[in-house]
Amino acid sequence: MSPSATSDRGSRLTVWDGLDQSGPFITPSLLACDFGRMRDVLDRIARIGVQAVHLDVMDGRFVPNLTYGPPVIARWREATHLVFDAHLMIVEPERWIDPFADAGCDTLVVHLEAVEQPWPVLERIKARGLRAGIAVNPPTLLRLDPVPSWLALLDSALVMSVMPGFGGQVFDPSVLSKVAALKQARPGLRVAIDGGIGPDTLAAAVATGVDQLVIGSAFFRADDQLEVAWSDLNQRLRQVNPSPLLGTRRRTDPL
Ligand code: DX5
Ligand code: ZN
Repeated sequence: MSPSATSDRGSRLTVWDGLDQSGPFITPSLLACDFGRMRDVLDRIARIGVQAVHLDVMDGRFVPNLTYGPPVIARWREATHLVFDAHLMIVEPERWIDPFADAGCDTLVVHLEAVEQPWPVLERIKARGLRAGIAVNPPTLLRLDPVPSWLALLDSALVMSVMPGFGGQVFDPSVLSKVAALKQARPGLRVAIDGGIGPDTLAAAVATGVDQLVIGSAFFRADDQLEVAWSDLNQRLRQVNPSPLLGTRRRTDPL
């Protein structure tokens, strides 16, 4: 574990907590970038103004694909101060909280489908000083009436708009009803969306109340022009009227 993995977490979480102060924001998903040039990629995206990245952790069991785990993330942590928002697409996530925390992750988002009870897992993540989230797959019904007790523990909810496992899939707009339901059940909750988000789909998500947009291929496909892609996506975002359900997270930028 590098000393900065945990010692700098406080300042990274200050960045993370402040990210949505001026409205919905984008977190690039590193799944779509060139893993052979990670230090270069992390440097380049930090220079163009990215503050947090989405890490897709896959175990080949919860999803039919494998990516990377704590030892790899720990090396990336040595190379960057970017916030690490980790999306754990793994079975038994409760077994891996300490290794991911020690590797320098700042948030851990576990799947509702992968835990028997969300409450103890969320509590353990928060006890390690990380932000805790729950992700939900497109076919999973979210029962929010009565409001489940764990909803109060969440720092964020991640609504999947594709079946997890691979980048570059087509956005499923039917999941947006879950975004609205989460915002109704807990106004002010940070709600993220993941899968198939890009210039043509981000408006519908933001109009429904999404605060955080995870974007993989629509950002990294412009490998040699990431600055242009980042600026275009953010400009598109600023043209969208956020939902009134955003509550306290209101846009302050001029439209
Ligand atoms: C899919 C991952 C996503 C993925 C999104 O399982 O959770 O984060 O990287 O990629 P795009 O933006 O290409 O759909
Ligand atoms: Zn993801």
